[in-house]
Amino acid sequence: MHILSYTFVMNALVILKSVTASAEPTKFAPENCPPRPATQWLQNRIFEDFLQKFYVEKNATAAILDHMSEQYIQHNPYALSGRQNATEYVGPILQIANFTIAHQGYSNNIGWVHTKMTIPGAPITAVVDIFRFEGTCIMEHWDVATQLPADATNPLALF
Ligand SMILES: *[C@@H]1O[C@H](CO)[C@@H](O)[C@H](O)[C@H]1NC(C)=O
Ligand SMILES: *[C@@H]1O[C@H](CO)[C@@H](O)[C@H](O)[C@H]1NC(C)=O
Ligand SMILES: *[C@@H]1O[C@H](CO)[C@@H](O)[C@H](O)[C@H]1NC(C)=O
Repeated sequence: MHILSYTFVMNALVILKSVTASAEPTKFAPENCPPRPATQWLQNRIFEDFLQKFYVEKNATAAILDHMSEQYIQHNPYALSGRQNATEYVGPILQIANFTIAHQGYSNNIGWVHTKMTIPGAPITAVVDIFRFEGTCIMEHWDVATQLPADATNPLALF
């Protein structure tokens, strides 16, 4: 009985230790790009750090330099590929826009975020951004945006 419970406690400690070990702090720039291999757990942590820097702190320099590849592939029709082009495009937007994150998720190399974007003098915009990771680094981006049209037939608000 004593031996059994001792074994049980030791096993529990081993499991606890491995859980704690996998919860080591993540390392960010400059190690994120160019990419190194990453577990899904680490990619999810990196994605959360990116969201915090980009949408909450609105620090384009930190978000992009820490997390985007120099060869970043951009699908937004008004922006160009490459990290430098991304910084030049989003920098001015982040200075005037505010974002509220409504939903976010991460699975299988893809992180996505649904935000309510407010810009002075413009209607509220609903935006979904989708980011593809390669290891530790964001490699590709797609986005879609919509505003509530004047002829909406649905009485519900966008949010
Ligand atoms: C933005 O991030 C950079 C790099 O991490 C940092 O040096 C700078 O102080 C930050 N800017 C603001 C306004 O917090
Ligand atoms: C950034 O955009 C310019 C055009 O303004 C283009 O020539 C350049 O290749 C782009 N940078 C990258 C890294 O794709
Ligand atoms: C963005 O947030 C700041 C700080 O709360 C506020 O001063 C500013 O008016 C907001 N801008 C918009 C467009 O909502």
